[in-house]
Amino acid sequence: MISVVLKLLSVVLPISLCRTKMAASETVLRLPLGSLSPSSHLSSSFLTSTPLLSFKPSSTRKRRGLRCTTISMARGNTFHSPDRVFKGKKSHSTRCKCQRNDVEENIRSTLLPSDGLKSDLDEMPLPVNGSLSSNGNVQSAAGTNSIEDEAWDLLRQSIVYYCGSPIGTIAANDPNSTSVLNYDQVFIRDFIPSGIAFLLKGEYDIVRNFILYTLQLQSWEKTMDCHSPGQGLMPASFKVKTVPLDGDDSMTEEVLDPDFGEAAIGRVAPVDSGLWWIILLRAYGKCTGDVSVQERVDVQTGIKMILKLCLADGFDMFPTLLVTDGSCMIDRRMGIHGHPLEIQALFYSALVCAREMLTPEDGSADLIRALNNRLVALSFHIREYYWLDMKKINEIYRYQTEEYSYDAVNKFNIYPDQIPSWLVDFMPNRGGYLIGNLQPAHMDFRFFSLGNLWSIVSSLATNDQSHAILDFVEAKWAELVADMPFKICYPAMEGEEWRIITGSDPKNTPWSYHNGGSWPTLLWQLTVASIKMGRPEIAEKAVELAERRIAIDKWPEYYDTKRARFIGKQARLYQTWSIAGYLVAKLLLANPSAAKFLTSEEDSDLTNAFSCMISANPRRTRGRKKTQQPFIV
Ligand code: GLC
Repeated sequence: MISVVLKLLSVVLPISLCRTKMAASETVLRLPLGSLSPSSHLSSSFLTSTPLLSFKPSSTRKRRGLRCTTISMARGNTFHSPDRVFKGKKSHSTRCKCQRNDVEENIRSTLLPSDGLKSDLDEMPLPVNGSLSSNGNVQSAAGTNSIEDEAWDLLRQSIVYYCGSPIGTIAANDPNSTSVLNYDQVFIRDFIPSGIAFLLKGEYDIVRNFILYTLQLQSWEKTMDCHSPGQGLMPASFKVKTVPLDGDDSMTEEVLDPDFGEAAIGRVAPVDSGLWWIILLRAYGKCTGDVSVQERVDVQTGIKMILKLCLADGFDMFPTLLVTDGSCMIDRRMGIHGHPLEIQALFYSALVCAREMLTPEDGSADLIRALNNRLVALSFHIREYYWLDMKKINEIYRYQTEEYSYDAVNKFNIYPDQIPSWLVDFMPNRGGYLIGNLQPAHMDFRFFSLGNLWSIVSSLATNDQSHAILDFVEAKWAELVADMPFKICYPAMEGEEWRIITGSDPKNTPWSYHNGGSWPTLLWQLTVASIKMGRPEIAEKAVELAERRIAIDKWPEYYDTKRARFIGKQARLYQTWSIAGYLVAKLLLANPSAAKFLTSEEDSDLTNAFSCMISANPRRTRGRKKTQQPFIV
């Protein structure tokens, strides 16, 4: 706490002095605390080009959050009631007194296509009457379009406003749910498909606001039992709260209250949030053609803070990111601590996106060098050691163990007995996938969908591997899709394994929730991946299947059972990312070229470095004379 105060003082004072209108108690956000020294970032260009917000953070837990003052029109009648906010209606009766400088202006002046903004979307065929079917034909009003129309209505109803501006979508908007838990919050990861749906629809404000407001939350003071996580962490979620203003009953203020995991079930820091934020930022620039957001000094600082946190040296021998259980979409114990594929795919993707967006400046040369080196090492590690197909299983089956040497083939000392019996029958002759996790003497052979799909999207997987993953999905359709796309992982843990690994989690029972449940939101990632590989028919088939039930079932969060036949036991209905995931899939199938806002192609530097590393790998060269080659890209 003391160190946080000192850090704040050290950077706040100079700025406060520069901005005489700011109240003495206010603290400026978007300060590169910690690793970035004040002097390096408080240059005159920083002060003039960075829209500094004068939102007031509060040091007490009770009064934390970004604040925006509103005046109740009558005593006791607060117009920004959570209810109205969450019903998605703007309250016109409130007056926002946010003391923002140009950010308010910037946010409000978000350009729409009609504003003359150059967008790749402009060059695309526009859907007639709102939508095209996946094969490009206009759907009849009585057909699938009604599902899409319903989805759009629901998505809009889930919009959350802050100071009158749309800034995100709540996780679920189930009117009949008695226990809301934290599903009334805007989750960073859940907003990604919403944001993409809005981008593809040409509605850019909400995405831009989301990017800029969550950026303000990044610098927030966050502690759990006196311990603070690293600067640069993005919250898992945030909530807009309307609270009475101190000392004045007639005034209320809106507060953006972030949760970095200090209130989340299990208290896990969301490693994926910052990575998704970078991915969305890049998609925003690509889709709108407006790179001014990513070029802002505060946004550039935000990107660097995330990168510094991820690229910081630790005890690791692996280039993969070491995280705790539950630090991503699977946000409770599922035995994925260590180096889970989902985080590695998002990490890789965020590095690639950041590299594209970082503006060259003297101070960032080291960071860019570290980023490039990590990209090479990470892709090599995942492609080589996470890949699994029939050939590789057979290789593992015949592994020698206890190899002490630099040229060990079985580098991680995997005992062949670890090959699970389900895998032997499960692996098709054609196809393969990236395993869930790799640790010393441990391979997690489970198939995790998001990690595999995003490895295709980001080109973390090679072209051949990407096709092989899709071959695998097609071959294992009955297991991975069955009645509703898409299994979050396969297979489920049962019995003693479930008891030990999940801690007897009653929500993660076999074939439910994270433990082999089926999540409709994964449709959008499946769609991007299959379009990227020129195989959209896979996504079309999945969307068709989803359309048979998803609206009738009220857009559940997930489905249970091996074949996804039941609506999830504790699944929320009207889950926003199920709705948005479906919409993104439809929009992309109608306009496949828009998938490029999300995909990354492998660059030639990386391919060259990678092939050099492959040829230096003992597994391929045992018996031949090798030379060790260091790679600095
Ligand atoms: C569940 C999911 C998590 C999601 C959250 C809000 O906790 O596991 O991934 O972000 O719900 O929908």
